[in-house]
Amino acid sequence: MFDILVISKLTKIYGTKVKTKALDNISLTVKQGELIAITGESGCGKTTLLNLIAGLDYPTSGIIKIDGIETTKLNDQELAILRSNKIGIVFQFFNLFPILTATENIELAMMIAKKSEDSQQKRAMELLKMMGLANKAKSKPNELSGGEQQRVAIARALANDTKLILMDEPTGNLDSKTSQDIMKYIKNLNKDGKTIIIATHDQTLAKFADRIIIMKDGKIKK
Ligand SMILES: Nc1ncnc2c1ncn2[C@@H]1O[C@H](COP(=O)(O)OP(=O)(O)OP(=O)(O)O)[C@@H](O)[C@H]1O
Ligand SMILES: [Mg+2]
Repeated sequence: MFDILVISKLTKIYGTKVKTKALDNISLTVKQGELIAITGESGCGKTTLLNLIAGLDYPTSGIIKIDGIETTKLNDQELAILRSNKIGIVFQFFNLFPILTATENIELAMMIAKKSEDSQQKRAMELLKMMGLANKAKSKPNELSGGEQQRVAIARALANDTKLILMDEPTGNLDSKTSQDIMKYIKNLNKDGKTIIIATHDQTLAKFADRIIIMKDGKIKK
C-alpha cells in the first residue's frame, strides 16, 4: 500500500527562553487505509504531532510528506489549501466558531475547500443526521453540550471527504454509549478506505486501531 504519510526525524522545540522539546526526532510511516492510535501520558507530544501533520505549525527540524508532497516546505497559504483538500481534523478542544451554527461550522469547512453551495447544505445535513444532531442544526456551540460540540467537530472533519483524518481525543467528552457509536463510525470510515490517526487516552478506542503508537517525552516508545 501507498505511504500516505511519511515523517522523518521530526523535532519540535517550543519557546525561546524556556525550551520544551515536545517532539524528539520522531520517524513514522503510515500506509493508506491504516487506522492508527497514538497514546501516551498527558504532555508526551500527541497534539503537537497532529498539529505538525496538519500543517498548523512548523517543526524545528525534520520532514513531513503527505500524499507525496513535502508539506514542511510549503508556506502558510499552500498549507491551508493542502489541508482543506487532503486532511480532516478533529481538534482536542473542538475549535468551532462560536457565532456560527452547527450547520454553518460544517459548511465553512466546505466553503474553504470551494465546494458548491448546494452540495454544502446537503452534505452538512447528511453529516449532522449521521451524528444524531439533525435537531441541533441551527444551534450555536454554546447552546450545545460538550459531547454534541464534539460530534459537530467530527462532522466538520468529514465534510470534505479527505483521504486523511486526524482526531485528537475524539471521544474525550462523550459518554460510553456515544463513544461506542463514534468508534463504530470511525471503524466504518476506515473500512471505506480513510486513513485515520487518533490521539487518545481512551484504551477502548485505541484497541480499535490496526496499530498503537505509544509516545513518551516526545519520542515513540519502541
Ligand atoms: N504552544 C506551546 N508552547 C509551549 N509549550 C507547549 C505548547 N504546546 C504544547 N507545549 C508543551 O509541549 C509538550 C507536549 O504537549 P502536547 O499538547 O503535544 O501534549 P499531549 O500529548 O497532546 O497532551 P494531552 O494528553 O494532555 O493532550 C508539553 O510539555 C506542553 O506543555
Ligand atoms: Mg493533546
